[in-house]
Amino acid sequence: MRLYKKFLDGMPEYLVHYYWWAYLWRWGIWFFDHQFVINAILYGQYDKLLKKTLAQVEAKPAAKILQLTCVYGKLTPSLLFSTSNEVHLCDAATGQLQLARRKTLHIANRCHPARMNAECLGYHDDAFDQVIVFFLLHELPTEARHNAYAEIARVVRPGGSVLITEYAATPQRHWLYRLVPFRWLICRIEPFLAGFWQEDVAAKLSGAFKQNGKTLNGEVGVEHCFAGYYRVMRFNVIQGELA
Ligand SMILES: C[S@@+](CC[C@H](N)C(=O)[O-])C[C@H]1O[C@@H](n2cnc3c(N)ncnc32)[C@H](O)[C@@H]1O
Repeated sequence: MRLYKKFLDGMPEYLVHYYWWAYLWRWGIWFFDHQFVINAILYGQYDKLLKKTLAQVEAKPAAKILQLTCVYGKLTPSLLFSTSNEVHLCDAATGQLQLARRKTLHIANRCHPARMNAECLGYHDDAFDQVIVFFLLHELPTEARHNAYAEIARVVRPGGSVLITEYAATPQRHWLYRLVPFRWLICRIEPFLAGFWQEDVAAKLSGAFKQNGKTLNGEVGVEHCFAGYYRVMRFNVIQGELA
């Protein structure tokens, strides 16, 4: 039996196969959840990305926020501090939810963790005023990404928004991308990143909104970071089709 299969336990197969060492293995969880490690993985850009993301968090009273999957570092507690609203948090991995729980004990009454697959969420339609997705999409295979877009579009309510912090589109002119050994290495570690680099996220999400009787309101807000290597995207959603 392949080692990774030991971690299956109802988890998406690709997550177990490609990322068991990062998200499911006890020592992996311990190692990666050091702020300096996760910051190094993001080339020192963690705080900038966090700040740009938090600046767009929905602050209107009683708004319901979903953080779609756990992340290493301080995003979840910072998110809870930046708003007085409820934050729902889902992830397929129990170990990740336990880690998030430990980081938010002091504000546990406003944080609602649940074990779920991002491709098939247990929340009802239009449940959230904002859905926050921090570096998840590039880790999903194409079909899983497609399913996740559909679920995001289903659970965000008209008048709400979706915040996606991610790699930007293929950064052809970025010095890191031009380093062939580096590109080879990152594409080995992140097997779905090359596909994500080429994906038109706005078109995919807009298509998913349409399927759910919603539409993108105005332009997609995009802020770049690290000379165009990363981006924070904001999609405002309204009911129906634009005239
Ligand atoms: C948000 S992503 C990447 C986070 C980023 N590398 C970081 O930590 O800053 C990692 C999380 O997504 C979760 N995950 C991946 N695929 C999932 C899926 N289909 N459903 C739910 N959770 C998933 C993993 O368990 C992990 O906790």
